[in-house]
Amino acid sequence: MTAPLATRLLKADAGAAVEAARVLAAGGLVAFPTETVYGLGADATDGRAVARLYEAKGRPAFNPLIAHVADRAAAQALARFDADAARLADAFWPGPLTLVLPKSPGCAVAALATAGLDTIAVRVPGHAVARDILAAFGKPVVAPSANRSGHVSPTSAAHVAADLGGRIELIIDGGSTPLGIESTIIACLNGAPAAPALLRPGGLPRAAIERALGRKLAEAPAARTGTAPRAPGMLAAHYAPRTPLKLQAVRVAPGEALLAFGEALPAGAKRAALVLNLSPRGDLIEAAANLFSHLRALDAVGASAIAVMPIPTEGLGEAINDRLARAAARR
Ligand code: TXA
Ligand code: MG
Repeated sequence: MTAPLATRLLKADAGAAVEAARVLAAGGLVAFPTETVYGLGADATDGRAVARLYEAKGRPAFNPLIAHVADRAAAQALARFDADAARLADAFWPGPLTLVLPKSPGCAVAALATAGLDTIAVRVPGHAVARDILAAFGKPVVAPSANRSGHVSPTSAAHVAADLGGRIELIIDGGSTPLGIESTIIACLNGAPAAPALLRPGGLPRAAIERALGRKLAEAPAARTGTAPRAPGMLAAHYAPRTPLKLQAVRVAPGEALLAFGEALPAGAKRAALVLNLSPRGDLIEAAANLFSHLRALDAVGASAIAVMPIPTEGLGEAINDRLARAAARR
């Protein structure tokens, strides 16, 4: 476990936004108010910063995160908007609406932030403090609610400090959040399902969305999880490679690829189709940052299997092992 950090608290003003941007650019974690709840922000394009964010929250699994951006143009650099998505963005951004859309080919967001999925959640928040920070930073910021995993979402800087003090660099205090409930999440995935689907009810009422669309919302695509989603983190499908995974591998058979961890490689590694190391020095934060991009690259070589070395279960190792187990089971 990492040593406690000195968490600084700043009252929201123009100087605080510049300081928040500086900390984000250095790979740091900054909590800030939005109109819904306080978010815990990290540079969305920096896989290590995103891995630190999961560690600070104590999430036992990598749920995909919402990319917060300053405006529609910035959102369009990350995701593809169909006609429904464009209509909803016109009607409700900036505001408490998150859109889940197909990731654009040039999307700069780290694979870990979207948990390896081909879709991405984007939102343009309406709160002045959040907008000032996004404008000062100039890049997308991923921000889950700024609470420890399993706790309720924070609506004041004091809530954030109680949960995350000593675990993050900076808290920007902008008073209580006006809505106090998370954003409404709508998936617009090009006709699959046919109508935009409500993934999470939230601060923007369903009726307002249906009025703007001129039709009813579809229910969340239950087929993805096999059951109706129960917890928020279960709304998203899990990334699954096409190549079978062999977990806890202690040797590599000919024709297999290797997902390595640490310095000592298993027998047969020299003949592997491809070897990618999550972290040669055995650092779990670095390993998390590399997890989904390495899996994708190994999946692309056409190996008979991907052998995965054992990975410790402490810290972020729990989430890494959770995702690997799901990726192995999905086939
Ligand atoms: O109001 C909010 O949305 C706040 C503020 C800070 O913006 N953020 C927030 O983030 O509530 P979080 O991480 O606590 O919840 C985001 C939800 C998660 O349940 C996640 O599973 C879902 O969004 N999500 C993110 N990306 C997704 C995707 N590609 N497909 C489906 N669900 C996704
Ligand atoms: Mg949350």
